[in-house]
Amino acid sequence: ASMFSAADAVVNYGPSSGHEPPVEDLPLPADFAWGTATAAYQIEGGASQDGKGKSIWDTYSHLEPSHTNGENADISCDHYNRMPEDVELMNSLGVDVYRFSISWSRVIPLGGRNDPVNEKGVAFYNGLIDRLLAHGIAPVVTLYHWDAPQEIYNRYGAFLNTEEFRADFERYARLCFTRFGDRVKKWVTFNEPYIISIFAHLNGTLAPGHCREAGTDTKTEPWRVGHTIILSHAAVVDMYAQDFGPSQKGDISIVLNGHFYEPYDAASPADRDAAERRMVFYMGWFADPVLLGTDYPAEMRAYLGARLPEFTADERALLRRTAPINAFYGMNHYSTKYARALSEPPAADDWTGNIEESSVNSEGKETGPVSGLGWLRVAPSGFRKLLNWVWKRYRVPIIITENGCPCPGEDDVVTAVDDKFRQRYLGLYLDAISRAIYEDGVVVKGYYVWSLMDNYEWSAGYSARFGIVHVDFKTLQRTPKNSAYYLRDTFRSRRKAA
Ligand code: NOJ
Repeated sequence: ASMFSAADAVVNYGPSSGHEPPVEDLPLPADFAWGTATAAYQIEGGASQDGKGKSIWDTYSHLEPSHTNGENADISCDHYNRMPEDVELMNSLGVDVYRFSISWSRVIPLGGRNDPVNEKGVAFYNGLIDRLLAHGIAPVVTLYHWDAPQEIYNRYGAFLNTEEFRADFERYARLCFTRFGDRVKKWVTFNEPYIISIFAHLNGTLAPGHCREAGTDTKTEPWRVGHTIILSHAAVVDMYAQDFGPSQKGDISIVLNGHFYEPYDAASPADRDAAERRMVFYMGWFADPVLLGTDYPAEMRAYLGARLPEFTADERALLRRTAPINAFYGMNHYSTKYARALSEPPAADDWTGNIEESSVNSEGKETGPVSGLGWLRVAPSGFRKLLNWVWKRYRVPIIITENGCPCPGEDDVVTAVDDKFRQRYLGLYLDAISRAIYEDGVVVKGYYVWSLMDNYEWSAGYSARFGIVHVDFKTLQRTPKNSAYYLRDTFRSRRKAA
C-alpha cells in the first residue's frame, strides 16, 4: 500500500521528499508548445451579460437541491470582464498557446441554425483572439466544452437527436470558422465525448443530468449521444476541409480523455484483457471511428450488441473520408486505474465492458498518491504507457490538451501558492512525455496545463483548484502559484536542452 495519506502529501511530497524518484527535468523538443487551458463556463462568468443565452450548465448549476456543491458559475473568475488581465498574465508566464472554448449560447443565444447571432458575444472572442495574437500566443479553440444552449435541449434533447443536433452544430461551427478562422489555426470540435455521453447522460453527475428525468433509457442513450458526437464531428471536419481549409489552412481534431488501466491482478489473463478492453471502451469508442474511419471497436459490439448504434453506408463513407483530415490526437490525461474482469454477467446498462475499476490492485498497491480529488492519483508511468498505447493504435501526433491536478489542502492563498505537490506532479508528467518521445518514439507536439487559473470544477464547484494561478473567488484577485513559475522556467530549460 502507498505510504502516503493526503495529509502527508502536503508536507512530504515536495521536490526533495526522497520517497519517490525525483523530477529529472528531461529534455523536450525545441518546437514543443506549452500552453494553458480553460473552458468558457468554468471561467467566464457574465452568465447573462450582453445578450448571452442560457446553457444547460446555467440551468444545472442552479438546481435545488444542488448537484454542484451548492455553487454556480454566474460570476466564477469573471474572465468575461477581466480578459485583458488574464492574457497579460499568460504573457508574463511565456506561454505559446492558450486553449479556450467558445460559449455557443454567447454567440447564438438560442443555439439553433435559424436563430440570431449575438454580435456582442462574437466581439468578445474577437477581442480575446486579437489580444492573444498581439502577445504572440496562439489560440487553440474548442467549439464544445459541455455548455449546450438550453434552448436546443428544450427543443429536441440536444445530443439525443442526432440529425437536429448535427445541423445546429454545423451552423454554429460555420459561424466560428467564418468569424474567427482567419486567425485561429487550431480547432477542437468536442471536448471529452466520453464524459458527455457517460457522465451527462448515464451517471447524471453533469448537465443536463438527463438520466434523472422521467422516460430516459440509460441502456441506449449514452451510446446515441456518442454517435451524435462522432457524426457531428465528422460533418464539421468535412465542412472545414472543403469550405475553409484551402484559405484558412488550420488544423482540426477532437479531444479525448482517458485513464491508463493496469490489470488488477497482473498474473490474471482476464484482468489483462480487462485493462485493454477498458481503454478500448473509453478511447477507442471515439478514436476508432474518428481517426481510423472504422466502425466501433469489435469488443464494444460484442459486449453492447444492439445497444450500440450502426453507421449507415453514407456515414461510413463520411468517416473514412474525414479520418485522415484530423491533424492530431488531443489527449486529456490525469491518472491511472486498475481494471478487474467481473465474472458475473454485465449489468443491463453496463458501459465498461463488464469491468470494475479501482485505485488499489490485488496486492494492495495503490496507483499513486492522492491529489486534491480522490480519482486523481500521481501515476506518471501510466501516462507514458498511455502515450504509447495511443501512438501505436492511431499513429497521429499527440497534443496533451489537458493535464494537471488540484493539490490536497489548497485552502488559503498562502498554502495554495506553495504548491510543491503540483510542481512535482507536473515535473514527473513532463518527464514521462520526454521518455515517450526520446525512448519510445512517440510523437508528442505540445502540452497545455489544466488550468490557467482556479475555476468552476463542474459538480465539485469551487472545491477543487486546478489552477497554476490562484483565484480568490471573493475578491477575484489572481495570484500565480509557484507551479506557474516552475512551468515557465522548466519549459525554458528543458527545451534548450533538447
Ligand atoms: C476535464 C475537463 O475537460 C475540464 O473541464 C475539467 O475541469 C478537468 N478535466 C478537470 O477535471
